[in-house]
Amino acid sequence: MTLHPKSPKVAVITGASGGFGLITALELARAGFRVIATMRNLKKRLALDEAVALENLAAAIEVRHLDVTAFDTHTPFFDSVVGEFGSLDVLVNNAGFSMAGFAEDVSLAELREQFETNFFGAVSLSKAALPQMRLQGSGHVIQVSSVTGRYANACVSSYSASKFALEGWSEALRLEMNPLGIRIVLVEPGAFATDIWEKNVRVGQAAFNVHSPNKERSLRFRDYVRDQVAKRDPREVARLIAALAQDPYPNLRYLVGQDAKTFRILDSLVPWKIWERMVEKRIGL
Ligand SMILES: NC(=O)c1ccc[n+]([C@@H]2O[C@H](COP(=O)([O-])OP(=O)(O)OC[C@H]3O[C@@H](n4cnc5c(N)ncnc54)[C@H](OP(=O)(O)O)[C@@H]3O)[C@@H](O)[C@H]2O)c1
Repeated sequence: MTLHPKSPKVAVITGASGGFGLITALELARAGFRVIATMRNLKKRLALDEAVALENLAAAIEVRHLDVTAFDTHTPFFDSVVGEFGSLDVLVNNAGFSMAGFAEDVSLAELREQFETNFFGAVSLSKAALPQMRLQGSGHVIQVSSVTGRYANACVSSYSASKFALEGWSEALRLEMNPLGIRIVLVEPGAFATDIWEKNVRVGQAAFNVHSPNKERSLRFRDYVRDQVAKRDPREVARLIAALAQDPYPNLRYLVGQDAKTFRILDSLVPWKIWERMVEKRIGL
């Protein structure tokens, strides 16, 4: 890889076809970054294209194909970004999905799929981006984790596990990269209104099977998520990511959303045995 420092700074984001990814791409562009907004299915680019046109941001945003699970493509992808745009200043590992379902009802294959995207995808892209950031002596890798990557919850064991793994890996990477001027940051949103909750949610195939011992509990959990989990405006997360991308000394972890912050307070105040009874009651376990 080569180094041709020039402004504006270059930010790559994954999963920009919708949700946090799309609005963060816009937010970064508004903040002055040259944004490479990536998605695994370019047929889904219309929403981003329309938003870009509406705000007159076409000069700041390039759309590129990138599947975070196509690991072999990651290094060539960054080579082409650096060749074309001159540097690589920010990587936002945003792409992800949630595999819901009681742990007993999620197969090993489904759990592995969850890890391929949420954990190995982010790991592979981070590793592929680091050589250029090392060369520059600077760069930000912003991992979109989750409050569930700090505090696990029932019915999302696979998702929680993938985000816990991302948190542990990133925490260690942060210690390794800090002396080189490369900042690793974890963003931990609570519940925000994106397609992750319904349209894009995956559910373990056995969850609603008549033979599942958890079928009734799964239905109650589905209704609880639909009716009782308040989902906030996702622009709060996009604004935070854009601010962190410009912060020369960001912290390691950022909980975002009142619900996520409440988890931290409860975790410090409420003994675990009381907490688990509260969860059982709230979700109807
Ligand atoms: N919304 C929340 O409440 C919440 C809370 C905590 C953390 N998060 C995290 O925030 C991130 C973004 O989620 P979101 O809420 O914005 O959900 P979303 O609206 O469902 O968007 C997810 C994005 O990830 C993309 N994606 C999934 N698998 C991919 C792959 N293999 N390669 C490339 N892109 C892929 C999707 O692409 P397609 O359109 O092709 O499916 C989509 O663009 C995720 O990491 C999620 O875990 C969300």
